[in-house]
Amino acid sequence: MTDIDSLSAQALADITAASSPDALEALRVSLLGKNGSITSQLKALGALPGDQRKAAGEAINRVRDAISQALASRKTALDAAVLDARLTAEAIDVTLPGRSSERGGVHPVSRTMERMVEIFGRLGYDVAEGPEIEDDWHNFEALNFPPHHPARAMHDTFYFPGGRLLRTHTSGVQVRYMGEHKPPLRMIAAGKVYRSDSDQTHSPMFHQLEGLLVDEHSTFADLKGTITEFLRAFFERDFEMLFKPTYFPFVEPGADVVIKWDTEDGGSRWLEVLGCGMVHPNVLRAVGIDPERYTGFAFGMGVERLAMLRYGINDLRAFYENDVRFLKQFA
Ligand code: PHE
Repeated sequence: MTDIDSLSAQALADITAASSPDALEALRVSLLGKNGSITSQLKALGALPGDQRKAAGEAINRVRDAISQALASRKTALDAAVLDARLTAEAIDVTLPGRSSERGGVHPVSRTMERMVEIFGRLGYDVAEGPEIEDDWHNFEALNFPPHHPARAMHDTFYFPGGRLLRTHTSGVQVRYMGEHKPPLRMIAAGKVYRSDSDQTHSPMFHQLEGLLVDEHSTFADLKGTITEFLRAFFERDFEMLFKPTYFPFVEPGADVVIKWDTEDGGSRWLEVLGCGMVHPNVLRAVGIDPERYTGFAFGMGVERLAMLRYGINDLRAFYENDVRFLKQFA
């Protein structure tokens, strides 16, 4: 019992020196825990002679209370220090520059398509859609491609087992639209088409814009006027144009439209920009429209091709590589 005072002094010094909540907790266990030094002093009381027990007990209890109090106040101080350290470490430096987020943009092909749709919208054309997985009837047969007709070979078609195919042009949407609407009608359809072909100017998937008008007195002159109006609006300038006779099974007469394009060396060249013609009577018949009463015209163009001309892009593949340095220029 003589060393209770020195035990107390040592304990209080250790508590003051404890540098972390963990070290303090270890100290608490070694002093007041089940086998702690203070606890064993209390346990030892029973072995003392009766007359000394009371005084000794009081002394130990006093020391124990003092130690408990010292532990508690040291704990408060250490916890506060830990919290301070954390707050300092996690402080947000509001003067640091923020993380920037890149701004995206509409893909040049979508952008071009939207622009085309917008121009025809102004001319009163309805926007239609059709499936990319098409059947032979809509893609070929109703468009006056009889089975085994050589014109089918011009479309390098991707076939599915069972006769379905990936549409090779958007002209099938004409057939679907005429099946659902009575003339007079005008519609455009834009979307993906597929052909087994790939090089600098051909991609196995590309986009087309299709147009169709059917009315009682529509003529080739209306077609010419519409196409001329569209090309001027699209390129925002005027040029010489030619309608050169050509063959598509679903139009008669049919024409390729070529425009005179100024080249960088100061010269010019003729560029094919779209196909068009007067709807073939067989196509009207296939969808139950009387070709004696109605006539119509149709046109189809490659979206990438027109986008390439408008933006001066010379490799079609740039559209599909998703190189942000390329795409950014259109954002
Ligand atoms: N469908 C034709 C093609 O893909 C384009 C076209 C559409 C031609 C409408 C005439 C009329 O080449």
